[in-house]
Amino acid sequence: MGRNSGLSAQTGGVPVLILREGSGRTRGRDAQRNNIMAARTIAEAVKSALGPKGMDKMLVDSSGDVTITSDGRTILDKMDIEHPAAKMMVEVAKTQDAEVGDGTTTAVILASELLGKAEDLINKGVHPTVIVEGYSKAADKALETLEKIAIPVKPSGKEFLKKVAATSMASKLVAENKEQLAEIAVEAVLSVARKVGEGYLIDLDDIMVEKKPGESLTETKLIEGLVLDKEVVHSGMPKRVEKAKIALLESALEVKKTEFDAKINIESPEQIGYFLREEENMLKQMVEKIVASGANVVFCQKGIDDMTQHFLARKGISAVQRAKELDIEKLGKATGGKVVTNLEGLSESDLGFAGLVEERKIGDDKMTFIEGCKNPRSVAILIRGADKRFLDEAERSVHDALSVVRDVVQEPKIVAGGGAPEMEMARALRGYAETLPGREQLAARSFGEAMEIVPLTLGENAGLDPVDLLLELRTRHEKGEKWSGVDVFEGKIKDMRNLEVYEPVAVKKQTIKSATEAATMILRIDDVIASGKMKAPSMPPGGMPGGGYGGMPPEY
Ligand SMILES: Nc1ncnc2c1ncn2[C@@H]1O[C@H](COP(=O)(O)OP(=O)(O)OP(=O)(O)O)[C@@H](O)[C@H]1O
Ligand SMILES: [Mg+2]
Repeated sequence: MGRNSGLSAQTGGVPVLILREGSGRTRGRDAQRNNIMAARTIAEAVKSALGPKGMDKMLVDSSGDVTITSDGRTILDKMDIEHPAAKMMVEVAKTQDAEVGDGTTTAVILASELLGKAEDLINKGVHPTVIVEGYSKAADKALETLEKIAIPVKPSGKEFLKKVAATSMASKLVAENKEQLAEIAVEAVLSVARKVGEGYLIDLDDIMVEKKPGESLTETKLIEGLVLDKEVVHSGMPKRVEKAKIALLESALEVKKTEFDAKINIESPEQIGYFLREEENMLKQMVEKIVASGANVVFCQKGIDDMTQHFLARKGISAVQRAKELDIEKLGKATGGKVVTNLEGLSESDLGFAGLVEERKIGDDKMTFIEGCKNPRSVAILIRGADKRFLDEAERSVHDALSVVRDVVQEPKIVAGGGAPEMEMARALRGYAETLPGREQLAARSFGEAMEIVPLTLGENAGLDPVDLLLELRTRHEKGEKWSGVDVFEGKIKDMRNLEVYEPVAVKKQTIKSATEAATMILRIDDVIASGKMKAPSMPPGGMPGGGYGGMPPEY
């Protein structure tokens, strides 16, 4: 083990090349060590962002754009990562985000710790497949423990939903306003929830999130309807239309330009007049179509010609141009209107309805509000705040809050946080490991120890002593204090229920699933074969695995 050998063979003393020259190959222990190191380096980068005392990261991309965030997924997304095992950690965060919307940092830290513990076991001579087996059993046991300690809640019980939302934002830049934002998130999610059988289904795409610089975060509002970052195109159009009948158009309200260079010979001034009149007639006909349908508001995905704007204004019709495709779709859903591709086919039955469409000045810009929609389930959140970077981070935090509320409404079970559930799972795993045969026992015990990284990191980020913290937490959990966790503000161990720190069971479950999946996938690899096209520079000692596969000499 550990020696590298390329994919080559010998026939009668003549070497046969199988891989292109310049290809790299690492096998056995070296491959494992490299992959584990790369994956763990990634986790180191997000560790200090965990929890309310976690720090933010400033990420600068190649064009100089700056992002400030403490969101695990965003940090990893913005890093230019090339190492394949490191990329798998980015995938962990992505999966976590896609499935439950929060807990991305935790999932990555957990995966890394599972790999660290696995490496210790490998060094002691435990085979990776045994570790994988033990980890998989331990993960099942951990999930079972979570189910056992879970606190059932009412899916529409606002009190706990708000606490869960507030906890998700406690670790973000917006923490100061978490109560107010939690309230908005809960109202928003509950208004788009659809009852299906015994439970609820929620599509977060039904909640439109817009942001606008200016004012402050406290001015963030929930809007019963939609809001577009667009103004009414023509000053002569009404800025406020009650009982709006809305046409949603995909095509442009312009005369199509010829797609190839066409030359038209004009021989007399009358001909110019003829052409212009012809164009004007076509535009007029378009407007007539809209008027005939009975619409008094138009949302167009493409452009609206100046002259068309003028005709529409004369007819008292309000219009917005170049709306985003997604927004047009949302408008369709909210107003009950049908998106029309060809104006020829527009009829009254295609129109959507809203109680009020109004252009309002927000900050320095104008936005269009669509309220009192046919579908009462459509809502929007308009986030306000000092500058763009702050707004972007606020939007990510609102996304986390909306996600955790959705998680609980869909699966109405919660746990107290602050590392308490992880300690409880670790405790259960200590007992469970005893029941496993041979070396799997070691793996299951390691899995439990790895879970302790969550309270440990929360404590470390709050400047607490890790050894004391862990000992006391273990003792308390052994005594049956299952919600003992880290109060990062007071620097003490407390019953997290008293601090009202609550998280969805769905998020905790997913962190275990995604972390175990990634760790076992990496552990199963014992051969890395890289094509010659990939450059294979060495990994800087202790540095970021920027490229290549860990300093292996190219072989063939
Ligand atoms: N007041 C608090 N005291 C102690 N721990 C807290 C408190 N509020 C939140 N936490 C804990 O902080 C952790 C979540 O931190 P954070 O939101 O930074 O990471 P994440 O949810 O794993 O990832 P991300 O939010 O970046 O997707 C959870 O373990 C949660 O229980
Ligand atoms: Mg979080």
